[in-house]
Amino acid sequence: MSSDIKIPKLSQKHLLGIKYLSVKDINKILELGNFFKLKNKEKNKNYPILTGRTVINLFFEPSTRTLISFEIAAKRLGADVVNMNIQGSSLRKGETLFDTAQTIGAMNPDLVIIRHNEDNSAEKISNLLDCPVINAGEGVNEHPTQALLDAFTILSHKKTLKDLTVSICGDLEHSRVARSNYYLLTKMGSSVRFVYPKYFEPSDLHKYKVEKFNDLDIGITDSDIVMMLRIQNERILDTELPSTKDYFLKYGLTSERLKNAKEDVLVMHPGPINRDVEIESSLADDVNKSVINEQVENGVAIRMACLGILLK
Ligand code: CP
Repeated sequence: MSSDIKIPKLSQKHLLGIKYLSVKDINKILELGNFFKLKNKEKNKNYPILTGRTVINLFFEPSTRTLISFEIAAKRLGADVVNMNIQGSSLRKGETLFDTAQTIGAMNPDLVIIRHNEDNSAEKISNLLDCPVINAGEGVNEHPTQALLDAFTILSHKKTLKDLTVSICGDLEHSRVARSNYYLLTKMGSSVRFVYPKYFEPSDLHKYKVEKFNDLDIGITDSDIVMMLRIQNERILDTELPSTKDYFLKYGLTSERLKNAKEDVLVMHPGPINRDVEIESSLADDVNKSVINEQVENGVAIRMACLGILLK
């Protein structure tokens, strides 16, 4: 049985983006994540510090990992959880996001978690509600809890988040995961590389202090971490893409290509993965290199930490 822990306080009311967090805030969440990771290995995984609190999941886009892990996290902390069924909601009758948020707010939730396809939607919702709001992935802007669980995973292997070379590869233009990871890893003192085909060059590239590469083999050379990204087909409107076979030939990560990186490189992917498109299927399953399943496991502990810290 694990001992109790004093839940620290965050400098922010909401978790809207890594860009708003201090290094101190990030470290507090990661340390608390450690406590919950151990707790999650016990037979009784419950740590009911949120009994009587109501958490609402408001997911306007599909999700497996984020939605389920937030639900598990909130339940393990003893909260009552409501997953709003968007398809069966009054949004289908034309109610606006604004009115939906006002309506949810009138029911006095203690915390709202939102995923939406529009940038800054979590911030807009946070201005309408009295309770804390967590951004569970919005537009191409940020996915802060993904970056936190990625950092937690890196830290558990590398014992530091400083002085690492992290190559983030693939569809940089449409990736909120890349942006949140960029903010987090550079705040912690690591170097980030963006490795992408020209057609996935981020339109806001000027904002990021990164090394840029269009060649995957060169872009991952001597990297400590290779983070592959899913092609975000749902956000691609007017870009003509190569066939998945051609994409894999040029930008797919294989065991052979990975020899360019450091011997002890970690392969990461936020999921869902497209096997043999952005990553070779056997490499994704190679537990000596790939930490994709650990990322998912750590997502529960990190989301418990985020809920606990915001509702303290
Ligand atoms: N990584 C991630 O956000 O996955 P889901 O879309 O399944 O939540």
